Amino acid sequence: MLCSVVQQGAQLHVFLISMAAFFLELATPVGGAMALPGCPDKCGNVTIPYPFGIGDECAATSLNSYFSLICNDTFHPPRPQVREPEAYIEVVDISLEHGEMRVLSPVNHICFTSNTTATKSSAVGYDLLETPFLPSPSRNRFTVIGCNTLGLITGYRGARNQYVTGCYSYCEAINSTSDGAPCAGMGCCEAAIPANLTAFSVRFDLNQSKVWSFNPCFYSMVAEVGWYSFKQQDLVGLGFINGRAKNGAPIVADWAIRNSSCPELGKETSANYACISSNSYCMAASNSPGYLCNCSKGYEGNPYLSDGCQGSVNSIEFSTC
Ligand SMILES: *[C@@H]1O[C@H](CO)[C@@H](O)[C@H](O)[C@H]1NC(C)=O
Ligand SMILES: *[C@@H]1O[C@H](CO)[C@@H](O)[C@H](O)[C@H]1NC(C)=O
Ligand SMILES: *[C@@H]1O[C@H](CO)[C@@H](O)[C@H](O)[C@H]1NC(C)=O
Ligand SMILES: *[C@@H]1O[C@H](CO)[C@@H](O)[C@H](O)[C@H]1NC(C)=O
Ligand SMILES: *[C@@H]1O[C@H](CO)[C@@H](O)[C@H](O)[C@H]1NC(C)=O
Ligand SMILES: *[C@@H]1O[C@H](CO)[C@@H](O)[C@H](O)[C@H]1NC(C)=O
Ligand SMILES: *[C@@H]1O[C@H](CO)[C@@H](O)[C@H](O)[C@H]1NC(C)=O
Ligand SMILES: *[C@@H]1O[C@H](CO)[C@@H](O)[C@H](O)[C@H]1NC(C)=O
Repeated sequence: MLCSVVQQGAQLHVFLISMAAFFLELATPVGGAMALPGCPDKCGNVTIPYPFGIGDECAATSLNSYFSLICNDTFHPPRPQVREPEAYIEVVDISLEHGEMRVLSPVNHICFTSNTTATKSSAVGYDLLETPFLPSPSRNRFTVIGCNTLGLITGYRGARNQYVTGCYSYCEAINSTSDGAPCAGMGCCEAAIPANLTAFSVRFDLNQSKVWSFNPCFYSMVAEVGWYSFKQQDLVGLGFINGRAKNGAPIVADWAIRNSSCPELGKETSANYACISSNSYCMAASNSPGYLCNCSKGYEGNPYLSDGCQGSVNSIEFSTC
């Protein structure tokens, strides 16, 4: 009714304003708060959106205690870490829209000082069954670096189905490899990982090496697709771990509200239902049981907070008509 009274000129004016607002929004995304009231929404440079939070009071611990992160201020700027007493897993970023979290994980390695003597392999492993996290099968690869070495990844899928795979990399000499070559077995190799990997560890089951004189150290890791690019120098010593992988290798974890699912149409939502913002909806998680929330089309912000999804200015202009 109101809109139909507006004259041509005025309509054009409204249109121009909303276009301007639209462009402004692209530059600096608006939207409501990201954290619970009174809670920090950042740790150093990393935005911490609810259901994640710094400390139990600020996180959705009723959904999963692992949503509570530590903000470690021994670093400048401070860095968020997963609350895990035995390991320091740094969080690099968290995406609400895609249900992803990027973390840095230590790289597993073994170094030989003769054909039969090696340092103890520092196997790196995770049990994720109690956590909201799973490694993303599309965004990560199991990667092994070395000449004449077999790297293994073992673990469990879903409830407790045993899982093992690996890959073998072979080279006669450093010179038979080349920088930037794909990890197809000459200096490095890689293998895909499956969905639903609720526990995994990367390891070497080796007690001897024929290549130790020119390639003393082997590495294995689960890492984000595209992060690792082969360098001959990585075969030579501990340069890889002390250099590019100094803070670990990035892994993309899919997170979700794991122990329940989207409410069935017409059924009541449970008391713990996470998609509490108006103008939000529930989506089944892709890599396992559970669900995620998203703001409805035309809204953005945090669907896990009441009134977290805010209309963009131009859609408000149109919806008042
Ligand atoms: C943090 O952000 C500041 C300013 O945006 C930037 O200069 C700095 O390099 C960032 N630090 C890290 C560790 O990303
Ligand atoms: C999900 O797990 C949390 C914490 O373990 C628990 O408090 C909550 O009741 C569970 N929800 C469902 C639907 O099982
Ligand atoms: C911060 O991180 C460092 C290195 O990872 C660790 O030694 C220290 O214990 C952490 N501090 C807290 C409060 O967890
Ligand atoms: C290890 O090296 C020694 C001497 O270089 C050699 O005698 C031995 O056969 C080698 N062992 C293996 C398993 O290659
Ligand atoms: C993951 O594992 C659970 C429990 O075993 C199973 O119910 C679910 O269907 C699996 N999901 C996928 C995507 O494989
Ligand atoms: C590797 O190649 C470089 C340059 O092509 C050569 O100088 C070097 O001797 C070669 N090393 C070996 C072990 O063949
Ligand atoms: C290495 O492992 C093989 C097979 O398990 C075993 O026969 C061999 O004695 C081991 N060698 C050393 C030096 O431990
Ligand atoms: C969530 O909604 C936004 C905007 O409507 C959309 O771009 C995005 O793909 C959605 N996320 C998922 C995981 O579907």
